[in-house]
Amino acid sequence: MSEVTFPEGFLWGGALAANQSEGSYLAGGKGLTTVDMLPLGAHRMPVKLGLEKRFALRDDEFYPSHEAIDFYHRYKEDIALMAEMGFTVFRTSIAWSRLYPNGDELTPNAEGIAFYRSVFEECRKYGIEPLVTLCHFDVPMHLVTYYGSWRNRKMIDFFARYARSCFEAFEGLVKYWLTFNEINILLHSPFSGAGLVFEPGENHDQVKYQAAHHELVASALVTKIAHEINPANQVGCMLAGGNFYPWSCKPEDVWAALQKDRENLFFIDVQARGAYPSYAARVFREKGVEIVMAPEDADTLRHTVDFISFSYYASRCASAEMNEQNSSAANVVKSLTNPHLQRSAWGWGIDPLGLRITMNMMYDRYQKPLFLVENGLGARDEINAAGEINDDYRIHYLQQHIQAMGEAIADGIPVIGYTTWGCIDLVAASTGEMSKRYGFVYVDRDDQGHGTLNRVRKRSFWWYQQVIASNGRNLSFE
Ligand code: BG6
Repeated sequence: MSEVTFPEGFLWGGALAANQSEGSYLAGGKGLTTVDMLPLGAHRMPVKLGLEKRFALRDDEFYPSHEAIDFYHRYKEDIALMAEMGFTVFRTSIAWSRLYPNGDELTPNAEGIAFYRSVFEECRKYGIEPLVTLCHFDVPMHLVTYYGSWRNRKMIDFFARYARSCFEAFEGLVKYWLTFNEINILLHSPFSGAGLVFEPGENHDQVKYQAAHHELVASALVTKIAHEINPANQVGCMLAGGNFYPWSCKPEDVWAALQKDRENLFFIDVQARGAYPSYAARVFREKGVEIVMAPEDADTLRHTVDFISFSYYASRCASAEMNEQNSSAANVVKSLTNPHLQRSAWGWGIDPLGLRITMNMMYDRYQKPLFLVENGLGARDEINAAGEINDDYRIHYLQQHIQAMGEAIADGIPVIGYTTWGCIDLVAASTGEMSKRYGFVYVDRDDQGHGTLNRVRKRSFWWYQQVIASNGRNLSFE
């Protein structure tokens, strides 16, 4: 493995999200959000997809987000562990419904603000830069049941009010902001992505793209607000990344892969370039989509992001013959199974070179700094008789991906930093499992919610500490 170099001041750290880590789902005045309605088990997927309406909790179901890993009470211990690894950045999200329990109030909930202020102050105490997502798969349920969530244009104002409260309350504490986590997931998982639930007979594409328009306008508007409140604020978009490879060099397969990439990049094209891309009109026409826009939207969309953030777990693959039967979802987005790749225990293709390819494509396209804000291996970990967790498979995965990111930097791409996903074990977004672990720190909790919640350092903890201490020069482990 050749040595790669990272720029001085490169940010190293890890990421969590409120809905997968905090728990305390009704504490401190918090309101119910979309993710609180996602049960463990067979109903999870239909609810996530917006195909099964779940507007009330049921007594016979287990909801993993309700307790999660109790970051709400343990954040000081968790941030201390991050500091021990040498983190210089920590990504988390603010739960919208801690600040606005229903979503349509006029002023924020002071208890919610106090909680996040304390989290960010704790980060600053250790010299850790917070990187904050405003909306990570959680919409206050009242906005879903009463307004239809992002189908409704009123959401733009609700979101802008919430975002303004965050920028004002955390000014001086937070500089790096992301508007919507994996905004393109709205297309693939509409309820968890954007609070959308479909009525029978509806054109789903119409609902999704109208909601997407509202989110894109909201994202641009809050980018503008962030810059007005403090010009030092840096705002990024966030893509569920991973390029599509053509299944073969048959031109039809190459075209299919390009179309699939555009489906996801559509969002970033708007957020980074400030207008709908030229290909959008035909796509909408062919899908029977007509977007209702306000006259001022084109101007609002011109407020582009400062940097492009993205998650990368796996590359994807498409062919002209791709359909529901021959494709499956790795990280929600449907793909053919690439026979050239090894796969994780959850079937996600492992492709470090795909990361370099994805980064090069994105920088060629946008010419804005990149920030890799999610990457990692979901795996089952075991504690041995000595109480240790030797997660060499995770170290190997991260080592190869950090190497690939280093190669992309050597290719000439400016990269702000790197936050691995689930730096402390948390609830998996797709399945709701705890046993799908990403962390450097093990959390004693099982899929059904049993366990002490105690934290245990894994072998990867010490390895990542060494990576950070050497600014990425020393990726080795024996
Ligand atoms: C991303 C999300 O899609 O992938 C995270 O932003 C999610 O919220 C992560 O947890 C990994 O997916 P999963 O399903 O393994 O948790």
